[in-house]
Parts: sequence; structure tokens; C-alpha cells
Amino acid sequence: MGKGFYISKPVGIVSIILCAGALATIIALSVVYSEEKAKNNNQVSPTDGGTTSKPPVTTLAPSNEPWDKYRLPKNLVPDHYNLTLWPRLTPDLTTGLYIFTGESTVEFETTEETDLILIHSSKLNYTILENGHLARLTSVNSGVRVPLIKVSWLQSVTQYLVLQLDGKLMTGHRYHLYTKFTGELADDLGGFYRSEYMEDGVKKVVATTQMQPTDARKAFPCFDEPAMKAIFYITLIHDPIEIMKIKNIPVTIDNQHVQKTVFEPTEKMSTYLLAFIVSDFDFINNTIDGVWIRIFARKPAIAAGQGEYALNKTGPILKFFEKYYNSSYPLPKSDQIALPDFNAGAMENWGLITYRETALLYDKEFSSNSNKQRIATIIAHELAHMWFGNLVTLRWWNDLWLNEGFASYVEYLGAHEAEPDWNVKDLIVLGDVHRVFAVDALASSHPLSSKEEDIQKPAQISELFDAISYSKGASVLRMLSDFLTEEVFTMGLRTYLSEFAFGNAVYTDLWKHLQMAVDANGTELPDTVHNIMNTWVLQMGFPVVTIDTKTGVVSQKHFLLDPDSEVTAPSPFNYEWIVPIKWMKTGAVQSPYWLRGKSATNDAMKALGTEWVLANLNVVGYYRVNYDEENWGRLLNGLSTNHQLIPVINRAQLVDDAFNLARAKIISTVLALNTTKYLDKEREYMPWESALNNLDFFYLMFDRSEVYGPMQDYLRKQVTPLFNYYKTLTENWSKVPDGHMDQYNQVNAISLACRTGLEECQNLAKTWFKQWMDTNNNQIHPNLRSTVYCNAIAASGANEWEFAWSQFKNATIATEADKLRSALACTKQPWLLNRYLEYTLDPKMIRKQDATSTIVYIANNVIGQSLAWDFVRARWSYIFTQYGGGSFSFSNLINGVTKRFSTEFELQQLKQFKEDNAEVGFGSGTLAVDQSIERTTANIKWIAENKQNVLNWFRDETNT
Ligand code: BES
Ligand code: ZN
Repeated sequence: MGKGFYISKPVGIVSIILCAGALATIIALSVVYSEEKAKNNNQVSPTDGGTTSKPPVTTLAPSNEPWDKYRLPKNLVPDHYNLTLWPRLTPDLTTGLYIFTGESTVEFETTEETDLILIHSSKLNYTILENGHLARLTSVNSGVRVPLIKVSWLQSVTQYLVLQLDGKLMTGHRYHLYTKFTGELADDLGGFYRSEYMEDGVKKVVATTQMQPTDARKAFPCFDEPAMKAIFYITLIHDPIEIMKIKNIPVTIDNQHVQKTVFEPTEKMSTYLLAFIVSDFDFINNTIDGVWIRIFARKPAIAAGQGEYALNKTGPILKFFEKYYNSSYPLPKSDQIALPDFNAGAMENWGLITYRETALLYDKEFSSNSNKQRIATIIAHELAHMWFGNLVTLRWWNDLWLNEGFASYVEYLGAHEAEPDWNVKDLIVLGDVHRVFAVDALASSHPLSSKEEDIQKPAQISELFDAISYSKGASVLRMLSDFLTEEVFTMGLRTYLSEFAFGNAVYTDLWKHLQMAVDANGTELPDTVHNIMNTWVLQMGFPVVTIDTKTGVVSQKHFLLDPDSEVTAPSPFNYEWIVPIKWMKTGAVQSPYWLRGKSATNDAMKALGTEWVLANLNVVGYYRVNYDEENWGRLLNGLSTNHQLIPVINRAQLVDDAFNLARAKIISTVLALNTTKYLDKEREYMPWESALNNLDFFYLMFDRSEVYGPMQDYLRKQVTPLFNYYKTLTENWSKVPDGHMDQYNQVNAISLACRTGLEECQNLAKTWFKQWMDTNNNQIHPNLRSTVYCNAIAASGANEWEFAWSQFKNATIATEADKLRSALACTKQPWLLNRYLEYTLDPKMIRKQDATSTIVYIANNVIGQSLAWDFVRARWSYIFTQYGGGSFSFSNLINGVTKRFSTEFELQQLKQFKEDNAEVGFGSGTLAVDQSIERTTANIKWIAENKQNVLNWFRDETNT
């Protein structure tokens, strides 16, 4: 810790600096930097402006050298880092580039003697030190001979700084490794990067970080693996400021007057959880039980009160998790910051959580109830990680599913605490279970758990951030918590957290602790937690459980959306699961049943007369259910006569199961369509939403065919009562329904009514939008804006589009901008859509963080579909290189633009696309290409087999 520097009081576990005033910094290093940048284009770059200690090594031929392996050797263990970074918030005058400079000393211990040091480093340029090398090595222990560096170089493929020594580092001894380096503060959303925004006509620059999963090495040389926990002493250099209570130390470096802020040391933590930010933001704060909570954002956003909702909810959610984990929040402060440019939704850096603006900022004038729910759940998700993930970290990325799956489950518990009236916990069924059923039913799916040795390269790690890890992880953990009971689940969780605090674990450690809780509690289970959960974690997919109510036979089978698809992946359990079944008979809950093996008989499940059996109550189980035809008939009858007898989540489930079983040819498509017949009486959100999600598939398959007309007629007929219901409830659209779910379903009513051409609805949308254009006063309720904007823009031309575009550019809250950005994709004018596609690759028009989602919006539009596909395949290599730092985006992009594919011709194009770009690659979208091919193949067959039936069914239903 530098003497004389003030240590910031609020303890910079992770660090934040507010930087006000002029940002003029001209730096002398820029020339060296530009030379080095040119060199870095080589695969392996010698460093320092031309003088190098080792000729470039070609890494094209695979070798078995330690520096060609992606995993660090285990012989050096970091203890702490002393890191000083200086981001320049104005571009270098000669190169025009934004850069940062840094110095770092890492103290590490040798656990096994070695003459080689490997430390991660990516896209950094090093100063050659007085010893002629890229680093200086000294000993912490006196009297120990420090080996000399023989050669040092950067191994860019595996992202290492490599130092070969002339002698051994001794076991048990500690050393200091010092480096001085420069990096680009690029707008690439990864590592130490730059975000920009306009304020009062002035461009402002923020220096911020996104380390997860493997970009800490882009900010400073580090042992960048989650198990290499260390303490970080961070100092930031920035322009002089006089705000915040922090007293900063003025210093002069290279004739520049700057300040240093020295943060208190972090806890022992992983590199991927670090964050530091220099910005000209404002904040609001409060303190809860000694924890200092702050919300940071652009000054006008804070002034407008947009951080208040997050501030009000953070305290209660934090308190909830302290109780849930039985562990107090490990840090003295909790900062959360909304960034104008941010790739993911939010990131759980320990003590400084970063968000995209839409995920943190709320304004009741602009934000919908859906925006509000996203904020509450995303805050809960990231706060959940403060313990699960940050305090206890999984040892390697192959267990990412447990980290993200867990947070994705308990985010609903945390959000429920913040908003107890919402029934938000039910929504995991739509948001996660249904979402992931769609991908986990493909033969190209994969198990939750991967082997450690199969996950090596950064791209393989990024690929793990998918729906399986998040949503299947959340679904199976919810099932586990349910069959253990929340009491036993939290008991095991608590001892797990306390055993591994500040350390690392593997997923079986959690099973071990849950088993201890099961044993202590005397819970009865058909097998150990380990054995039950292995069937859900180690094999891909999920079962369809079939209940024959005539015989009481219960059986299971791997559910495949395309029954003809070939499952080549072997399963250690032969695609059988240990299945917990909660069920009811004619409205009365029965005692739970466990299914093991292919099939078994449960006499209680026999049904007589008008009795019906309904299994998977509240969809806590991760499986689908099928019944004998008679029971289906009685369930359908129950739906149309007294649907309230069936719990609302299961009404949503009956629809979703039926549609998917039909796609898998297990039941008829007619039976599936029949589940929608009762909807004219349904007023609840979840069944409607489930039906709409399934009918979306029908839209995708048929909106270019003759089925479209009759389908529209049927759906208009079904939705009209719902539309009228809301018209009355809201007193002619002048009020907002009270309930959260009712507010959602009002949006469904309007969007389906407008989509199916209900004139009254379309007129409403057009009139409201026109009023806004005429008066420049937007009276449309935030809940309804997305759908109203979309329908109005779809029904009109360039004037309306241009108006919406200018509103988008001038929006003062990102939430409003996002609603407009998606609505702009609704136009039916091909030239507007093509121009909009061009905008997506121009960061001045559309921020990089929003590029892929905008392309997908355009592809969702039946007119935009082929335009978007042509655009993506023509520019693939450009998109891939420009936006390669992303995490979720490529899989979303590929799945998004190919969703409608259902012809041989489209399948050929897709295969060609795969072949043409084999060299460039698909990064985190690799799996998505195969999923798209599988989906297209299934769609082609489905249309051939179903089109006529579906057409007839819609015709029959509308003629009667
Ligand atoms: N750790 C992730 C953020 C992340 C994702 C970093 C991918 C790097 C690559 C964070 O905890 C997260 O899961 N965020 C989600 C939000 C959540 C509510 C599902 C996100 O960003 O969408
Ligand atoms: Zn997460």
C-alpha cells in the first residue's frame, strides 16, 4: 500500500472512482503502443517496440509445451496482487486510440519447484525492463537466490506471458513478479473497456470492466482461473476530482496533474469477479445494518430518480439472502452501477455489480411492469451470487451450470421477497422450464455437467453460458429443493457455504452437504441425493412420463421433439431418470410418487368414471406428462367446464405438454389444438402466455402459407372475449389492472387482438401513436408501449418509422429506447428493414451491445426474416470478428435468424452456411448451428405431416 495515499473509507472490495471535470490526458506511451499494436497481430508477439528476447515462436504446429496448454500448471499459487491502473478517457492524439497503462506486482508461492512461469495475459503490451525482459522477478524471502529470466515472450493463442528461468523457483518460497504494461481501452465490452454516452451535448467516456469469464487477463497479467483466489490491492489513477467523501492524493506524472485513489484490499477472491470503474456518474445511497448500498448511473438518470427502485429493493433482497444462506453479507458495501454499454444483462462482481441500464434503472413514466420485474429479479440473481459463486466459487468452468442455475432459481425467491404480491415464483415455469424444454428436447442437447478436461479454451467456456446451464440448472435445483423441502435444502446449502467460504468447490460437494441435511432430518428418499441428481445432471434431456389411468402403469421415455432424430450421445443411465411425481385426482392432491426404472404400476393412479389424474403439480418436476386418451379427454372436459379446478400453472402446462407431445408425434396435433378451445373462458396470464408461446410456432411455420388466414380467424375469435374483458376492466383502456399477472395478460390481449387483425385494437394502436406524433406528448401506458408501437409501425410507413427512430435516438431512459428499438423492426417496408439492418453494424446508430438482438427482432418479422438471414450470412466473418467478445449473442443470433426455417431449400442454405464458415468458426454459436439444422429438419417433416390437418381444424373451428 503506497504510503501517504489515503485509503478510501468505503473499502474498495472492488473499486469505483467518479471522475469529474476535464479529462484531458495526453500520454507519452502512445508511440510505443501503436508499434506494439501492429506486432500483436502476429500469433505470437515479441514485445516492446522491437527489442525482443526471443524470436517469434510459431504455434501453428501443435506442441506439448506447457504454454500451449490452456490450463495453468498448479505449481504457482498467487497470494496477492498490487495493481495500479491508469485509464485515459481521451484518445491518444496520434493514434486516436484510447489506452490504459498499468503496473502490477503479484506475490505468489511455489508449491512445486519449476523453472517456468506462466501467467495469463491477453492483448497487453509490456515495457521491457532494465533486465531486458517483460517482467522482473524478486524474492520475498531474503537469502533466497532468485533465478534469472532466460527468455520472456507472449504466447497469444493460449494467452500467456511466458518466462523461462535459468534455475528453479523453490517449493514453499514466495516471489514477486513485477510488470509494466499498456492496453487498449477499446469499446469491445470485455476486460478493461470503454463505454460512451452523450450528456448535454458532450461526449462522456467511462472506463469499466467485464472480466467473466476470461478477460481479467486483458486488464493485467494474472493467474486467471477461478480457483486461483487472491487478495487484490488496487490503485486507480484518474483526473482530479473533489466529489465523494474520498480524499484523493494529487500527484504529477509526466507533467500531468492526476490523483491516485488507493482502495482497501479485497477479500480473497477470483479474478473474474473483479471490477473497477472510472466515470463521471452520480449515486444515491443508504445503509442497512451496516452495509453501505449505493446505486450509480449517469447524472441525469440519478437526478430523474431512476435509481430509486433498485436502491429500495436491494436492502430487503440482501437481508433475504442473509437469512436464506444464514450468512451475513461478506462485505461492508454493495455498489451497483448502470452502464450505457454492457454486453450481458448484469455481472456479479463482488461488491460492485455492473448492469446494462435497462436492468437497473426504473422510471414509472417509462418502465413497464415487465421492466420492473426484470430489475427485481436481476438484482436478486446477482445478489444471490455474492455468496453462491463469489464467497464459494466452483473450481472450474465445467461446473458453471451450478453457479448460474442456482442464481437463476433463487432469483425468483429474492424477487418474491421484494414484491410479495406478484406471484413471481410461478413464472419460473414459463421463463425457465418451458424455455429450456425447447432446447433440451433436441438430440443435439448436452448434459448439465461437463468434464473438466473438455472445457479448456475461452470459447468453450463462453459456450457454457447457455439455456441449459441457466434454465435447466434452475429447474432441476427447484425440483431438488421441492422434494427435499426448502428447510432441508437450505440446511445443506448453509453448511456447504460455511465449509467452503473464500475457497472453491465442485458440484458434488453441494450434494454431499445436502445428503448430510437429509440424514440429519430423516427425510425419506428413494436413493441418495447424489444418485437421484446424477440422473438429471449427467445425461442430457428429460423424460416424458406416461400415466395410463386404466391400468395404473406409469412409464418414462426420453422426450425428443423429433422422434426420428438420432441420439448418438451415450448416457450412463440409459436415458432413465429417478422422477419425483406430485399429482392430484379430480382436484384432490395425492401422496407423492417416485418413478424408478422404465415403468411401474401405481394402483392409486387408476381413474374411474369422470375422475381425472393430473401429474407434475405446479410443474416442480423437470419432465413432461402424457396420459391415456380417456384421461386427456376428461382433462379437456375439466378445462372447458370448470377450469379453476386445475391449478393455473398446470393449465399452462397442459397446453404446453400437449403441443410438444404433438410435435413429437406422441399425441395428435388436433388434441393439442383442442387444449386452446377453452381459452375463450380463460382470464389468467400463465395459460394464455403458454398458449401464445406454442402458437408462435404455428405462426413461424404458417405465416407464409394458406393456413395463415383461418388460423388468424380462429385466434381472433378466441381472444376477443379477453380483449373485451380488459376493455371493461380498464374502463375503456383508461386504467391499469391491479394485479401484476393481469397487467401482463392485458398486454397479451392487446397484442394478440391486434396481431389477428381485430380492427378495434388496430385502431386503438394507430390512434394512440398518432396522438403522440401530433402532440409530442406520449400518453401510452408504459406496459402497453411495446405492443402499441409495434402495431402502429407495422401498419404505417416511413413517417412513423422516422418519428420512432428520432424518439429512439433522443430517449432519456434505455428502457424506452429498447421498446422503440424492437418496434422499429415491425415495419412491413423491406427498404426500411434493410436500412435498419445496416444500422445494426454501425455503433453510432445501434450500440454494439444491442446489435444481435436487433437483427433477431428483424428476423421475427415475417418480411424481415429472409432479409436478416441474407444479411447475417453475407457478413458473418465481419460480425464474428467485430462482436466476438460477446457471450450469449451468437447462439441467440443464429437461432433467431433461422427460427422460421422449414423448407428443404432453407436447410440446404443452413448447411452451406456451416460449411462456408467452417474456417471463421461460430464461437459461442457453434452448438446453435447444429441445433438450427436439427430444428429445420424437424420443421420440414412437421409441416409435411400436419399442414392439412391444421388447416382443416382451423377451418372447422371458425365455420361453426
Ligand atoms: N455472471 C453472469 C453474467 C455473465 C454472463 C458474464 C455471461 C459473462 C458471460 C450474471 O450473473 C448473469 O447471469 N446475468 C444474467 C442475468 C440473469 C438474471 C439471468 C444476464 O446477464 O442475462
Ligand atoms: Zn448469474
